Amino acid sequence: MDQRPNTKAIRIQTPRSPQMEHSTPLFLTSSFCFENAEDMRAAFAEESDDNIYTRFSNPNVQEFIDKICALEGAEDGFATASGMSAVFGCFMTFLNSGDHLLSCSSVFGSTHTIITKYLYRWDIEYSYADIHRPETWEALIRPNTRMIYIETPTNPGLDIVDLEWLGKIAKKHNVILLVDNCFATPVLQRPIDFGADLVLHSATKWLDGQGRVLGGVVVGKKELIRELYLFCRNTGPSISPFNAWVLSKSLETLDVRMQRHCDNAEKLVAALEGNPKINWIRYPFHPTHPKYEVAKKQMTRGGGLITFDLKGGLESGRKFLDALQMLSLTSNLGDSRSIASHPASTTHSKLSKEEQEAVSITPGLIRISVGLEQVEDIIADILQALEKS
Ligand SMILES: Cc1ncc(COP(=O)(O)O)c(C=O)c1O
Repeated sequence: MDQRPNTKAIRIQTPRSPQMEHSTPLFLTSSFCFENAEDMRAAFAEESDDNIYTRFSNPNVQEFIDKICALEGAEDGFATASGMSAVFGCFMTFLNSGDHLLSCSSVFGSTHTIITKYLYRWDIEYSYADIHRPETWEALIRPNTRMIYIETPTNPGLDIVDLEWLGKIAKKHNVILLVDNCFATPVLQRPIDFGADLVLHSATKWLDGQGRVLGGVVVGKKELIRELYLFCRNTGPSISPFNAWVLSKSLETLDVRMQRHCDNAEKLVAALEGNPKINWIRYPFHPTHPKYEVAKKQMTRGGGLITFDLKGGLESGRKFLDALQMLSLTSNLGDSRSIASHPASTTHSKLSKEEQEAVSITPGLIRISVGLEQVEDIIADILQALEKS
């Protein structure tokens, strides 16, 4: 009987040991043994699937990968030590000297740093596609463009890229489409269904969901994952089996957690509507979102992140953070605990005004990662902090 993805995220399991454990045990081992020279030869010759060394593969890691493949509808995958090693591993595997990368202008800060400050070392060119003007994107594709890289929804602007439209463009130009699906998770959005070749995650965020471990994962077409595997097997960004074990357990509750994050986010948006301290609220499933129709087409729900713009700008943003009594001030998201951040005074403070605008950051922008607490408590804390901001 073929199971549905959310059931597979619970039921996929490393084959039981003779102990007949119910929950997968931890395989904290750097390497694996062989009965004889022939078995060892066959493993190295890739004639068998036997594990050799945890930098290459490990049962806990494989279980985590198999679950993400089931959730994303992917053929194969590779798990990495962090979201950034997934991003960097993909760039280094698929981009050769002389190639061109087309990335959406609005990407996570460290991804932006790799693109703008490191790729030139390997003679890899890049262009940024204006997130606000998708009609200009196709003309930026060059004969040497090898990859299109996007986030949707973006961090922190919550901009949305039309995956179906971009999937067709990537196919037409024979370019790899790589989507960072960190903000939506496969519960809310499956980019492969719309034509993406590869999907990556910072598993550190919603996939873990409790702010415990770093992790990353890339899934997609088998032949591309094979290239990624060979690169990573030799260069070493592999995830630790402990982190993979934690993440695999987390996936058993991903669907219920994401539904509750969305419930809470929707209620928070409703409670903030019309608040005199706020210019606007942004949430992918709110009718005022500029890409509301696109979000509705490609996401099942709006996700756990909302942003709003404080009328008082930069100073109000700082006051708002200081006035919060329960929400955490921490540089993470996708946690059971609600988190507030003010990009203009922290993560994005070094960007010029124009650069901030290009990635939809205003001086008064507040990003809330809506947690799993009783929503009344989340709302009460935010409303009282708004009064003081
Ligand atoms: C959209 C996005 N991609 C990638 C990353 C990097 O992930 P990690 O911190 O696990 O390296 C982050 C981290 O915040 C992120 O928000």
